[in-house]
Amino acid sequence: MPSAQRVQVWDPMVRLFHWSLVIAFATAFVTGDENETVHAYAGYAVAALVVFRVIWGFIGTKHARFSDFIYGPGVTLAYLKGLVSGKPAHYLGHNPLGGWMVVALLLSLAATCWTGLEAYAADGKGPLAGATLTVMPQARADEDGKAAGGDEFWEELHESCADFTLLLVLLHLTGVIAASVLHRENLARAMVTGWKDAPPE
Ligand code: HEM
Ligand code: HEM
Repeated sequence: MPSAQRVQVWDPMVRLFHWSLVIAFATAFVTGDENETVHAYAGYAVAALVVFRVIWGFIGTKHARFSDFIYGPGVTLAYLKGLVSGKPAHYLGHNPLGGWMVVALLLSLAATCWTGLEAYAADGKGPLAGATLTVMPQARADEDGKAAGGDEFWEELHESCADFTLLLVLLHLTGVIAASVLHRENLARAMVTGWKDAPPE
């Protein structure tokens, strides 16, 4: 009987990215209302990780590349149908739904960081504080450092983005657990070790 072959699916950079993101995101989330300095640095870390992951999505190893896990509507629908019937196709890298979830998470994280930077700038702080190009100039602080009205705009938008990202994270965890059960493989462990058992060809 042919035995399953062990293959390295997630390279060390993807794994380091993932678990650093979990720590930075959790830190940013719980400090949003508490410690502004820690919050800003955790947020910068998230932003840097997202930028890294986008670059790695083009130049990284096989399963790290967007071209490996962004599937068209046909394949994604077929995967969904398989899921409903309880027999989804098996993928070594991200499955089609997981792939779209990665894209959604990265976009939502980027929006959260951007609106956070704007909210910080509305208080006259952070790298965007001196920027002349802004989408909402009226949301900026005036020369006394007092917000010139509308400063709540970015804060509210930022909070909504953060909450939406949290919702995606919960869906992400549901997906990871569901796929692990359906395929009888421990996906979370694979994100730690990098290895998966490839079914024999
Ligand atoms: C303890 C909680 C978490 C666990 C157990 C977990 C587990 C996983 C697993 C198993 C994968 C690979 C999915 C696959 O096999 O297709 C993955 C990918 C991913 N997760 Fe999580 N995750 C967690 C929390 C988070 C959080 C909080 C975020 C974002 C804020 C996140 C963002 C991502 C991203 C962006 C990917 C894509 C990885 C890549 O291709 O670089 N995860 N996660
Ligand atoms: C993914 C990364 C981030 C997450 C998850 C996050 C999450 C949050 C949350 C949950 C709040 C609390 C809102 C409230 O209850 O009032 C908040 C507030 C805030 N965040 Fe972020 N944030 C992130 C990134 C950033 C970044 C990069 C900056 C800019 C340096 C930033 C600046 C702010 C500011 C200025 C506030 C308002 C604090 C206040 O209430 O005075 N955030 N954030």
